[in-house]
Amino acid sequence: MKIPIILANWKSFKNPDEAKKWLEDITIINKLKPANYHENIILCVPFIDIPVLKETLKQLSQGLNFVLGAQNISLEEEKPETGETTVKMIKDYVFYIILGHSERRTNFNETEEMVNKKIKTCQDNGLKTIVCISNMQQLKSIIREFPSYKDFILYEPISAIGSGKIEDAKVSNEMAKKIKQDLKNTKVLYGGSVNAENVKNIVNKEFIDGVAVGGASLNPQSFWEILEYVGRKS
Ligand code: PGA
Repeated sequence: MKIPIILANWKSFKNPDEAKKWLEDITIINKLKPANYHENIILCVPFIDIPVLKETLKQLSQGLNFVLGAQNISLEEEKPETGETTVKMIKDYVFYIILGHSERRTNFNETEEMVNKKIKTCQDNGLKTIVCISNMQQLKSIIREFPSYKDFILYEPISAIGSGKIEDAKVSNEMAKKIKQDLKNTKVLYGGSVNAENVKNIVNKEFIDGVAVGGASLNPQSFWEILEYVGRKS
């Protein structure tokens, strides 16, 4: 039986103190009533929170397996570019990088070429990528450059992100099926308003390997409830 992958995307929320508190709180919740979810949970957080979370994870004997990820990376491996965070700076701290989130494509004009360049930079440095797409054109651009891409594709319909309502799970499943027809070895996650109430509709779908959780990951209790549901199923 497949065990769904769970990813938390904190976006641009939580300072280091709040990040540490989140981890301590979810650990306490899980100690009182273990969620029975033993897979890695991918925690994609702001750059500034990564070192403190790494340290705190070492100290906590927690029962939940968190693996850290970042949410973006600079285009170049290393270059004098004021304000950027390079792959060289981050690669000893995280395993995963989210790339091409629709908020970056829309608000920071990230093009398909830029996303592809970032995939290459991550691959050259041994980091796993979680590439966000919201349509087939974005997928095609990845396939053109990386015909045997095999990390994660995170399918996020723009209208579902932050809306409180997931896309019709049948439609998302069809999309995941199409993605897998083109990229046989990739894992497909769904993102967009996933919470503890609706996660059951998505994770049971045949072609969907897991979910990315934005808003509902910010509160340790609501994120734990998602883990709890998935743990109960597996
Ligand atoms: P949301 O965000 O769960 O708040 O809709 C998901 C995402 O954009 O990754």
